[in-house]
Amino acid sequence: MSALFEPYTLRSLVIPNRVWMAPMCQYCAAPDGPEQGVATDWHFAHLAARAIGGTGLILTEATAVSPEGRISPGDLGIWNDTQVAALRRITAFIKGQGAVAGIQLAHAGRKASTAAPWLGGAPVGPEAHGWTPVAPSPLPFDDGHPVPHELTVDGIRDVVDRFREAARRAVDAGFQVAEVHGAHGYLIGQFLSPHSNHRTDEYGGSFENRTRLALEVVDAVREVWPQELPVFFRISATDWLTENDEDDREGWTADETVRLAALLQAHGVDLLDVSSGGNAPRARIETGPGYQVPFAERVRAETTLPVAAVGLITEPQQAEKIITEGRADAVLLGRELLRSPSWAQAAARELGGELRTPEQYHRAV
Ligand SMILES: Cc1cc2nc3c(=O)[nH]c(=O)nc-3n(C[C@H](O)[C@H](O)[C@H](O)COP(=O)(O)O)c2cc1C
Repeated sequence: MSALFEPYTLRSLVIPNRVWMAPMCQYCAAPDGPEQGVATDWHFAHLAARAIGGTGLILTEATAVSPEGRISPGDLGIWNDTQVAALRRITAFIKGQGAVAGIQLAHAGRKASTAAPWLGGAPVGPEAHGWTPVAPSPLPFDDGHPVPHELTVDGIRDVVDRFREAARRAVDAGFQVAEVHGAHGYLIGQFLSPHSNHRTDEYGGSFENRTRLALEVVDAVREVWPQELPVFFRISATDWLTENDEDDREGWTADETVRLAALLQAHGVDLLDVSSGGNAPRARIETGPGYQVPFAERVRAETTLPVAAVGLITEPQQAEKIITEGRADAVLLGRELLRSPSWAQAAARELGGELRTPEQYHRAV
């Protein structure tokens, strides 16, 4: 028996096991034209392979709610029906394998319009299908980044509407989990952190004001998301500024994460996906195996909101222990699933967990 391979139920959705695929941008959708942001054969094969491999829940890459919300011009989008049709083919396959299909809904804010990592990841302008990003405040993310346009209150309302419309389309595309991307210094995370949010209106300053957009987005998504299906929220538990810096530069903190977690739950979020960092390029982050698990564990201990842990979780025994010790309800794997699409199958063999193998592969069991 393995706890990692026990099913997990959220609302009415049964997720077959606790090994989940973290959202990972692939940077290879068309940057413009009628196929802009539309999933290709690459996205199909990439996500389908992990479903075949036994992963319980597959989250798409950060899928932009509007064109200017893309991290790179090659990101997936979910603002039109062509995009929905291509995603529906993927969700149908994932569900046909007995896995759960989830979508990460995202807006990149000031970190939008950058090149793919293998092209250097730097900001790109109109000559490379780029644009000037928007943000809570006109503060560039880093040297060499453009000064973003400060969103007006009407602009913020439009972002909330875009998330609502995207969630509506995600239901239509067959997704069973919607994850709001509030992490890694993208738009919602930019609003959360006093490091990137210098506003003086009702969206900046106090904790209540900085968290307003996150909660408005969650409310908008919940308005259209089926009651029987769960909504996740991905958070960066800390900007790694105040925790590490003697000069106490302001950033979002783990204490604020715990406070927000309870509010998110009251607004209908069913699970917090606990990551960290991404909002301050010079933050000092100490990484190592499972380095973000303590943040997930703390939320789980201090609130009633279920959590998933992510970050350098690579070994079956390591993942199993995170579940059996009650540190998280599920684990998300990113790079390890790029290396090993059938990681879950191998882990189930090692841990004695029960996992369905596709009939086509029975001769290899
Ligand atoms: C290629 C790549 C793309 C990523 N894209 C996203 C993304 O779209 N959304 C997101 O929240 N995190 C993204 N991440 C972060 C992962 O979801 C994950 O949190 C991170 O890689 C740490 O987990 P790991 O050590 O298992 O890889 C990405 C990571 C990688 C390697």
